[in-house]
Amino acid sequence: MAAATACANIALVKYWGKRSSALNLPAAGSLSLTLEALSTHTEVELHDGDEDELVIDGRRMEGRPLERVRAFVDLVRLPAADRRRVRITSANAFPTGAGLASSASAFAALAVAVSEAFGAGRSSRALSVLARRGSGSAARSIFGGFVEMVAGEGDDSSSSYARPVLDARIELAAAIAVTGSGPKAIGSTEGMEHTRRTSPYHEVWIAQAARDLELALRALRASDLDALAEVSEGSCLAMHADAMAARPGVVYFQGATLRAIETVRRLRRSGVPVFFTVDAGPHVVAFTPPEHLEKVAAALEAEEGVARVIRSRAGEGARLVESWVGREGPP
Ligand code: PMV
Repeated sequence: MAAATACANIALVKYWGKRSSALNLPAAGSLSLTLEALSTHTEVELHDGDEDELVIDGRRMEGRPLERVRAFVDLVRLPAADRRRVRITSANAFPTGAGLASSASAFAALAVAVSEAFGAGRSSRALSVLARRGSGSAARSIFGGFVEMVAGEGDDSSSSYARPVLDARIELAAAIAVTGSGPKAIGSTEGMEHTRRTSPYHEVWIAQAARDLELALRALRASDLDALAEVSEGSCLAMHADAMAARPGVVYFQGATLRAIETVRRLRRSGVPVFFTVDAGPHVVAFTPPEHLEKVAAALEAEEGVARVIRSRAGEGARLVESWVGREGPP
C-alpha cells in the first residue's frame, strides 16, 4: 500500500500543443503555481486478482478513464517486471462536479504512489517525467510554488521535466471563480490536438509561448508584478485565440468568464495588484498577493454567474503520506 497527495496547479504561461502525442511531449515550456486548495489524495494497493480497479471520489470507474490509468501504471509495472494488478482509490479535496477535477493533481499523486507501491524509487525529476506521460500539467504538480516546465528536445522523453523556480520574488495566492454550466467543452487533450492540426495561429502561438516563459521568469525574479500580469494575461488570451481560430473553433469562454475577466481588470485599474487566467474551461483564476486575496475573492463572488469562489494559497509538491485505510476517509 502506498498513499500520496498532490495539488493541482494553474499555469501563468500556458501549455497548449504537443510535439509528440505518443510521449506527451510539449511543444513549448510553461510556468505554473501549485495551489494548496486543489489537492488529490491517492492510494495504490497491489493485489493478485485479474483486474486493475479505479475508484475516484467513491465511484468505480470503467472505460476510458480506467484505460488511461492502466496505461500509465504499466509505465512503472512493466519495467518492474511485476504482474500484480492495482487497486487505486482517489479523492479530491475540492468540490467535484464543478469541472475543476484536474488531471494535474491526479497524475502527480498517482506517479508518486505507483512508484512507491512497485518499489521503484525515483528522483523528483524522474517523477515529473513520469507524471507528464499521464498529463502534461501533472509534471508541474510534482513541485510546490512556482514551477517551470522545460520543453526538452526531440524525442528524448527524459529531456522534458518540471523544476521549481527557487528564486521567485513574488508571492501569489489565487481566487478561483467557478463559473458556467452546461455540457463540458472539449477536453484539453483533444482541444490542443485539434488546435495544432487546424489553427492557422498555432505556430505563432508556440513561438510566443517560448518567449513568454522567459519574460515571466524574468518578472518573477525581478519582483515585477506588472510585467508578470501582462505576460500571463497575454499568454492566456493568446492560447484561447489559438483555440478559437481552430476549424471548427474551440470556445471555452462563457458569458460569466468575460464578466469575471472584466471584474479583475476593473480591480487592477483601481490599484489592486491582480491578474487573471483561464484554462480549458469557463472558470476564471485571479492571481493576487495573499494580502489582497479576500478583496479579490469578494469582488468575484458578487459577479453574476459566479457560482462560488475557491481561495487558495500556494501549495506544496506531491509527496508520500499516511494511508487513510482504517480511518474515516481521506485526511
Ligand atoms: O496537461 P493537460 O492535458 O491537463 O493540459 C493542460 C492545458 C491547460 O490547462 C489549458 C494549460 C496548462 O498549462 O495547464
